[in-house]
Amino acid sequence: MKISSRGLLLSTFSVCTFVQTLGQDSQSFAWLDLPASYALEWVDCYTGFQCSNLKVPLNYSNPDSNETIVLAIIQYPSPLPVNSTDYKGPLLFNDGGPGGSGVDYVLEQGVYYSQMFQDQYDIVGFDPRGVARSTRVSFYETGVERALWGYNIAVELMGRPDGVANAWAQATITGQLAAERDTGILAHINTDQTARDMLKITEAYGREKLQYWGFSYGTVLGVTFAAMFPDKIERMVLDGVVDADNYYATLWSDNLLDSNKTLQTFFDGCFQVGPDGCPFYASSPDTIKQNLDDLYTAIRARPLPVRLPTGYGVVDYARMHYSVFAALYTPQSSFLTLAQGLSDLAQGNGDIIFNMTYFSPFECSCDDPSALLTASVQDSMIAIICNDGLPVPRNVEAAEEYYADLSAQFEWASIWAGIRIGCSGWPDYPKTNFRGPFTGNTSYPILFVANTADPVAPLSAAKKMASGFDGSVVLTQDSPGHCSIAANSPCTEGYIRDYFINGTLPESDTICPIVGGLFDDISVPGAFRRDLYEGKSEEVRRKSYSARRPLSLAPNSGCASVGR
Ligand SMILES: *[C@@H]1O[C@H](CO)[C@@H](O)[C@H](O)[C@H]1NC(C)=O
Ligand SMILES: *[C@@H]1O[C@H](CO)[C@@H](O)[C@H](O)[C@H]1NC(C)=O
Ligand SMILES: *[C@@H]1O[C@H](CO)[C@@H](O)[C@H](O)[C@H]1NC(C)=O
Ligand SMILES: *[C@@H]1O[C@H](CO)[C@@H](O)[C@H](O)[C@H]1NC(C)=O
Ligand SMILES: *[C@@H]1O[C@H](CO)[C@@H](O)[C@H](O)[C@H]1NC(C)=O
Ligand SMILES: *[C@@H]1O[C@H](CO)[C@@H](O)[C@H](O)[C@H]1NC(C)=O
Ligand SMILES: *[C@@H]1O[C@H](CO)[C@@H](O)[C@H](O)[C@H]1NC(C)=O
Repeated sequence: MKISSRGLLLSTFSVCTFVQTLGQDSQSFAWLDLPASYALEWVDCYTGFQCSNLKVPLNYSNPDSNETIVLAIIQYPSPLPVNSTDYKGPLLFNDGGPGGSGVDYVLEQGVYYSQMFQDQYDIVGFDPRGVARSTRVSFYETGVERALWGYNIAVELMGRPDGVANAWAQATITGQLAAERDTGILAHINTDQTARDMLKITEAYGREKLQYWGFSYGTVLGVTFAAMFPDKIERMVLDGVVDADNYYATLWSDNLLDSNKTLQTFFDGCFQVGPDGCPFYASSPDTIKQNLDDLYTAIRARPLPVRLPTGYGVVDYARMHYSVFAALYTPQSSFLTLAQGLSDLAQGNGDIIFNMTYFSPFECSCDDPSALLTASVQDSMIAIICNDGLPVPRNVEAAEEYYADLSAQFEWASIWAGIRIGCSGWPDYPKTNFRGPFTGNTSYPILFVANTADPVAPLSAAKKMASGFDGSVVLTQDSPGHCSIAANSPCTEGYIRDYFINGTLPESDTICPIVGGLFDDISVPGAFRRDLYEGKSEEVRRKSYSARRPLSLAPNSGCASVGR
């Protein structure tokens, strides 16, 4: 899930990117002017990339209809000739959300993944149907309307006495808008159809079987594909694994099982590195926890005003709680900042805590309407989640009961509960999409990857999903954070590279360590550098990457983001 924060909008699982990049690239490539075709007709775009608009059926179950929609696809092509024995074809990515833009993700990370896989793959990103530059859903007539209302579903409202009822009432309106403004595609925006799109993209490359790496929600997409088309898998890595049964039941009730464990690594790690390494240090992990609780109490009573050169706002309990949660997605790059922010907060300065989840306000880009037409928006996330899952009861009492249950178990229920409650007013489409069972004898074993303390994708979910697929393996990374790329682990990278390059799977029960501490401010997960791999022995490659200094990514990118 991703967290974006237009007034605290939390997108769920984008595991992989904390913030929404509002179609920042659309100005440099005119996607809407690119003709759509049934074949992949590549046009050079950006720098070193190729783009294509692919036509696919609107409804694969209705082959007689001529209705199509368009998928925006980008590749960072392999430099190898197609007839080279090393050339391995397309490797598709999904960076989560749901609703994350694969085009944005490959623009940000494609070069590094290409290097990681020794240039043998075309690194392919696609905006799933309904998302960003593909034929997309929009519940609002203008960007301004969305900014004023759409991003208003403040899940942290739930902390207030009327919070659940308020979120429920908003969801009712959002559902009505979605139905009224539907151009005829909305009912077809779901993971079942997107899985079929991935097969179509693969076939458009002239190949039969999928090669895929999915993060977070992308693991739901992956197991859906694997259960529907078990004989169409060449390679599949599912990283930051979600329990698909729970997802398709629209329950959202077992994602947070390891979230306490993740927060505990903050207390333990802060204590271990000592006062010089952790600005929020105290004499024991328990004392650090107590100090955090005291700070929550203080800020509840006295919110702080913040003015930065880039913006302004108020740090209240909701904002502080949200910033702490956000840091759990990417500890290695966020814990030091969080510790400094909390320490400052205790001194009455909320700048850092505010800044951790601050994104520039909506700007009306009247000069470039196409930027708005191709931007990633929250609408697609809601559409995919609500279309995929079983209907949520429409009455407010059910929402209140659900919230009471979730908050009895999880500290972060106030942030999380809005995902299910957000479907309370969703239009009543027939649920004919594939929703399991998630089992199969796949034509190549799936590699599942899970962290020991992922705040939104517990290890138990990876084990559960793996148990449905013959021969699959769970590779465990001993770290907090969402998805393996949240931390620096040459070991994990090495296994994933071997799997894609020569099909080797790790032994079951393999656990990979990470390199570097949680308070080292290692700023960029998810970037892979060829120079670190070349000419080094396996042992060096696996163990001594401490020198790896991640490339600098914009704060709003990189797999470990939430919300788009
Ligand atoms: C897709 O087509 C099938 C077959 O005509 C139909 O039963 C189904 O309802 C359609 N799906 C949607 C979402 O309209
Ligand atoms: C689909 O296209 C074909 C050829 O253009 C046309 O003959 C047919 O009537 C169309 N079918 C529908 C359902 O529109
Ligand atoms: C690969 O294709 C190129 C261009 O078609 C050709 O010149 C070359 O000989 C081929 N190489 C092999 C190994 O077949
Ligand atoms: C806010 O965050 C951005 C990006 O992380 C950083 O460049 C900037 O220095 C921060 N500002 C403050 C006041 O912390
Ligand atoms: C997490 O910790 C909170 C208190 O900090 C506790 O109420 C809750 O039961 C714990 N949840 C889990 C799943 O361990
Ligand atoms: C899975 O498929 C392979 C090859 O088709 C077959 O050898 C194997 O017995 C199957 N495994 C199961 C559990 O059905
Ligand atoms: C390929 O497979 C072997 C194990 O058979 C492994 O040791 C080797 O390093 C692998 N990786 C690559 C990138 O060639």
